[in-house]
Amino acid sequence: MNDALPDRLRRQDTRLDSYVDRYAARTHGMTASAIRALFSVANRPEVVSLAGGMPNIADLPLDVVGATLADLVVSNGRQAMQYGSGQGEPMIREAICEVMRLEGISAHPDDVTVTVGSQQALDLVTRIFCDPGDVVLCEAPSYVGALGVFRAFQCEVAHVAMDEQGLNPAALREAITALRAAGKTIKFLYTIPNFHNPAGVTQPAERRMELLAIAEEADLLVVEDNPYGLLGFDAEPTPAMRSLNEDRVVYLGSFSKTFAPGFRVGWVLAPHAVREKLVLAQESATLCPPVFSQFAIASYLANHDWRGQIKIFSEMYRERRDAMMAGLVDHMPPGTTWTTPAGGFFVWVTLPPGLDSHAMLARAVTARVAYVPGTAFYADGFGSRHMRLSYCFPTPARIIEGTRRLGEVLQYEITVNETFGTGLEDGHSYGAGERSPLRVYEAPGANQA
Ligand SMILES: Cc1ncc(COP(=O)(O)O)c(C=O)c1O
Repeated sequence: MNDALPDRLRRQDTRLDSYVDRYAARTHGMTASAIRALFSVANRPEVVSLAGGMPNIADLPLDVVGATLADLVVSNGRQAMQYGSGQGEPMIREAICEVMRLEGISAHPDDVTVTVGSQQALDLVTRIFCDPGDVVLCEAPSYVGALGVFRAFQCEVAHVAMDEQGLNPAALREAITALRAAGKTIKFLYTIPNFHNPAGVTQPAERRMELLAIAEEADLLVVEDNPYGLLGFDAEPTPAMRSLNEDRVVYLGSFSKTFAPGFRVGWVLAPHAVREKLVLAQESATLCPPVFSQFAIASYLANHDWRGQIKIFSEMYRERRDAMMAGLVDHMPPGTTWTTPAGGFFVWVTLPPGLDSHAMLARAVTARVAYVPGTAFYADGFGSRHMRLSYCFPTPARIIEGTRRLGEVLQYEITVNETFGTGLEDGHSYGAGERSPLRVYEAPGANQA
């Protein structure tokens, strides 16, 4: 068969990747996320996937969106399909300021840079601030996509412990002091204050103020990532950190969860000088963010009750959160604990001692339920006693069935451990702060167990 190929197409090298010696050092940290590897199996219809964090856009009125897009092409297609500004189109930047006002932010459209989802915002912010070896402070655990960006820019991630009110202030102080004493350069604190991915917790307003006071004292930049803030179930949105401190906070927002992720429109709101650097970085990355998507979203916001639509989404997610909570109460074995999210998509589960969510995953998928092992949300191997469950996508009945299947898997693991032991000295599971290879900064005197 190979003989039939012309010479230039014949394989010259037996290595799988003959370019392996040529890649830049920064690619060494680029690995497929645990979530990506999972998608192929978890998407099979017989598997209840509590793994992916895909927004559930079934309730979007496609006829309205379709009519908006058709009208856009007919009435303004030549502009909407042309190159545009590297900073983003003025009318969407104005609309973004209106959206941010719902979380107490008062901003000028000139300080907004439009990005390809907030994922690109993370990339641009890291690109302009971080050199290899610089430290980024992150919650423990943190968003897997952000960790991937920090790794790609060869940053060192230092995880800071959380509690039920989000990032722990004493642990943050401890981390800053210890890292600076070790001669490290901390470039910024990356935090997700609302409906944390993956931890499911929210910082109350007082906690935000406390963290900002520490940032002020330590002269630390804060990157506030807030894709879920408007998807709360009970209360009005908590004021954004950016609304409490304009100069120290770089704020990232997105239309992926409040409208639809396929348009890939997010943004950065940054102090003016930072904004200038972001636009230069954006121009070199994309020339300009997708103009058609920006026009489409601006038309949608202008012609549709988008606030009402966000309420519809929130109600739908609340129903699913309730199903998840009920399923966990009914089916989790004793010793399992979890967070109770007041919005967003995710629950963080802590397993009984001796269980390892990473090792267990294949057995769970065989039992037709999928989740993301906690290790995906740490920079280095930590978190195996945890898992992230998403309730955003399956129906409430499927969510309950998923928790039932998961409960059986956990019970089986517990029984096996009781019969044969965990195979780990002292029941050690590399989870929950136990002798991990990675340092997670805890509050002084905190119980590491
Ligand atoms: C915390 C967080 N930040 C950023 C993103 C990226 O979202 P997008 O690029 O779609 O705006 C996500 C997506 O799940 C997320 O959970």
